[in-house]
Parts: sequence; structure tokens; C-alpha cells
Amino acid sequence: MNIHIIGGGNLGVAIALGLANYTTGNQLTITRRNTAQIAHLAANGITVSGNNIENIANADMVLLTIKPYQVDTVLNEILPHISNKIIASAVSGVSLETLHQKTKGAHPIVRIMPNIAAQFAESATCISFSEQNKVAGAQVVALFNQLGTAVVIEEKLMDAATVLGACGTAYALRYIRASMQAGIEIGFDAPTALAIASQTVKGAAKMALDEKIHPEQLIDRVTTPQGCTIVGLNEMEHQGFSSALIRGIKTSLQKIKE
Ligand SMILES: NC(=O)c1ccc[n+]([C@@H]2O[C@H](COP(=O)([O-])OP(=O)(O)OC[C@H]3O[C@@H](n4cnc5c(N)ncnc54)[C@H](OP(=O)(O)O)[C@@H]3O)[C@@H](O)[C@H]2O)c1
Repeated sequence: MNIHIIGGGNLGVAIALGLANYTTGNQLTITRRNTAQIAHLAANGITVSGNNIENIANADMVLLTIKPYQVDTVLNEILPHISNKIIASAVSGVSLETLHQKTKGAHPIVRIMPNIAAQFAESATCISFSEQNKVAGAQVVALFNQLGTAVVIEEKLMDAATVLGACGTAYALRYIRASMQAGIEIGFDAPTALAIASQTVKGAAKMALDEKIHPEQLIDRVTTPQGCTIVGLNEMEHQGFSSALIRGIKTSLQKIKE
């Protein structure tokens, strides 16, 4: 496919690199106004451009990875130059209905909520589309399944998906940072603490994904009665560990809905 990514920021670049490094047969273009910061992507075979409409007529799919307030400007610019393209939007908070209206129903619209681990083909991508766009939706799902996992969700859960899947990357990294800080206090140098904390999270996540059982059942395998793991875990809970995470996720969701 010929894929045109508009918005070469954090997410756009992650998707472009993921597609370049983990998929085959796709032609990729990525645009932003200040191209100097992404010029290096050319080394990955990605066309970098400061012009949103150059070659867009040849695209099969247009990916929008811009901020919500940039949508009108970008659509006004590109719509006169495209017809019947799949438009996949990662823009948070802009609904399918709004996008259909803004594009005058002339393009199949799909909403995507990936995360920046798309760069390493490890994104948890949530995807929504209307019944009438299910063919385009299936193409987008197939594409993002190559960049991790792609799950089709009801659009009303898109904000929740943004928080759990996209913001979730930051929550998980904060956990790793805190473990690393503790690791240094108990004797490791920073690189070693980071390596141990990160790999441990990766291992726990792989077990949860592969075994598909409740995390508490996996925790049971690690917690010896009266052992050091359970006392540490319980102390974390006394300090509000799970509660802090749940409250943080709900606060993020409230903010997104404002
Ligand atoms: N970051 C994430 O983890 C993540 C995850 C899921 C969804 N999202 C959503 O994805 C969108 C982008 O997020 P982000 O974090 O990647 O933001 P970002 O880093 O600010 O990227 C947005 C990019 O859009 C470019 N841009 C602005 N106006 C443009 C225009 N007229 N034409 C072409 N490019 C233009 C900007 O570059 P110039 O100023 O140089 O043009 C910038 O690089 C947001 O709606 C966000 O909610 C982000």
C-alpha cells in the first residue's frame, strides 16, 4: 500500500518507523511543516515532505497523526486533491461522525488509537469504523495487526482506549522508572537497574498475554507464604498502589472528555 502519514510528530514517526521496519511492500510518506526534525527517516526508505498534498493522489491510505486543532486546516488542504481514500485518524476526541461530516462522506473513515510502541511492532491499537466502512476498517486492522495487536472496539470506548492503551505507555514507563529508582537504592547502577526493571515488566506482560489468565493467578506463583514478595506487595497496596493507578486512569479519562 501507498501510505501517506500527515503529522510527523511522536506518533506519526513511531508508525512510520514501525511500518518501514516490520512490514513489507508499503510505500511510505510522512509530512510535517518543520521537516528538519524527521529528515533522518529518509534513511529508512520513508519519503519525508513538508508538503501535505505532494503525491497524495497516489496514496491508498491517509493516516492523520495531528493534534485535534490541526484537523480543519489539514483537511481543507488535502480534500481537494484526493478522492475515495481511506482516511485513518489517530486524532483523539474527533469522532467518526465529525470526520464524515468534514469530509462530506466522500472517504471511508476509520478511527485508530495506536500507541508509540508501534515503532517496535508492539502497539495495542484500538480501531473503530462504521458498518458501511467495514472493508476499509478490515484493511486498517490488517495493517495495525502487523504493528502489534489491533482490536476493533465500539466508538463510544475510544476515549477509554486512548487512556488505557495510549496514555498507558506513560503509566507503564513510570512504573519502570520507580522500580529503577528503588533498584539503585538497593545496590544496582542505573543501566543495570533499568535493564532488570524493563525486562521484568516485559516478561510479566508476555506471561499475561500468552497465558490469558488473571494476573493474580500469576502473582500466586511468585508469592511464597510469609515471603519477601507478598510483604512488599502488601506494603505497596497499603500505600495505595492499585488505587493510585485506578484513580490516575479515571482522572485521565475525565480530562479527555472535557
Ligand atoms: N503520542 C502518542 O502516544 C499518541 C497516541 C495515540 C494517539 N495520539 C494522537 O495523535 C495525534 C498526534 O499526537 P503526537 O503526540 O504525535 O503529537 P505531536 O508530536 O505534536 O505531532 C503532531 C505533528 O503534526 C505536525 N503538524 C502540525 N500541523 C501540521 C500540518 N498542517 N501539516 C502537517 N503536519 C502538521 C507537527 O509538526 P509541524 O509543527 O512541524 O508541522 C507535529 O510533528 C494527537 O491527536 C494525539 O492525541 C498520540
